Amino acid sequence: MKDSFDRTINYVRIAVTDRCNLRCFYCMPANGIPYEPKAHLLSYEEITRLLRILGGLGFRKVRFTGGEPFLRKDFMQLLENTAKLEAFKSIHITSNGTLLQRHIPRLQELGITKINLSIDSLDKERFHKITRRDDFEKVMETFHMLVDHNFKIKLNAVIMKGINTQDIIPLAELAKDYPVDVRFIEEMPFNGGYKENLEMYSARDIFSDLKTNYADLEQLPSAHGDTATLYQVPEYQGNIGVIAAFSRTFCNTCNRLRISSKGEIKSCLYDDGVFNIRDFMRSGVSDQELSDKFSEIIRLKPKDGFEAERARKSPKSAMQSMSSIGG
Ligand code: GTP
Ligand code: 5AD
Ligand code: SF4
Repeated sequence: MKDSFDRTINYVRIAVTDRCNLRCFYCMPANGIPYEPKAHLLSYEEITRLLRILGGLGFRKVRFTGGEPFLRKDFMQLLENTAKLEAFKSIHITSNGTLLQRHIPRLQELGITKINLSIDSLDKERFHKITRRDDFEKVMETFHMLVDHNFKIKLNAVIMKGINTQDIIPLAELAKDYPVDVRFIEEMPFNGGYKENLEMYSARDIFSDLKTNYADLEQLPSAHGDTATLYQVPEYQGNIGVIAAFSRTFCNTCNRLRISSKGEIKSCLYDDGVFNIRDFMRSGVSDQELSDKFSEIIRLKPKDGFEAERARKSPKSAMQSMSSIGG
């Protein structure tokens, strides 16, 4: 399915819950966000139906996010349903790593081995300060368990000026010791109103730190639709990526659509929701009507994250929490 800029849209990100058990300050205020009542969330049957329809439109990759997806009681059931769908051979999860350990055997049985883990610091104190919770050891334990079970891990670290720039190199070094890809992310203003003005540590700043430390850093070709600019240190097992999430330099190859936990479709991360597919579905529409609606939304996808931001109806200061957007 192509949009009006000739981009193939075949990757859907579905937030299965807006709840999270951490309180990362770049994502949520300390006292959390008002959570949606359970009845407002898409059920796993509804999500499976939407995925079936998207599969028919040529979607081939799904990523489940949250909040923290493993907080949802029926998440494994949803994964089991998704694994049965012919279209989605590529099932990915983004998680904070605090709750998934006991699910590792089942994930392996289902062939779901691509997990992006958020770890913003390798220093226990800083990890606590950023996440406002004391789960560093648990998350690192999960990291090691996933490595030992041959999961394909991407480690995500949001880099913030004055907070964790000193973690860039230690985190990058994980790609030397383990077969994991490490990605550094520009902070975006999706923090549920916790702070309005970001003091940006840009992709360029991150790259400059990497280049200073690794003189022989080589740039790798990016896969289509990849948000990260990828680099390799010779002999390292994993690669190192920089995601210009705020600078938005990769929109020309954007391949994605988002569905929030309450069924709000975002055709761009920076729009404020273009259509509620849950309400439409619950009004009793047919699969064909749902499919036509998705096609219409995809056709209207904005050119880039700047255009989407300009078209927002809600003011900037009301930027949602990433926990309800789904990352
Ligand atoms: P892969 O599927 O492995 O390429 O991962 P991903 O980058 O799509 O997903 P992930 O959930 O790991 O997101 C990593 C970071 O990239 C997060 O901070 C996301 O919010 C940011 N990101 C993901 N998709 C987009 C996007 O479409 N636009 C922008 N601006 N940022 C994005
Ligand atoms: N800016 C950038 N990245 C963010 N994430 C959550 N909130 C923000 C933000 N404000 C990241 C998480 C996770 C991914 C899905 O999104 O760290 O890795
Ligand atoms: Fe796609 Fe919008 Fe993200 Fe750009 S900012 S890559 S257009 S979702």
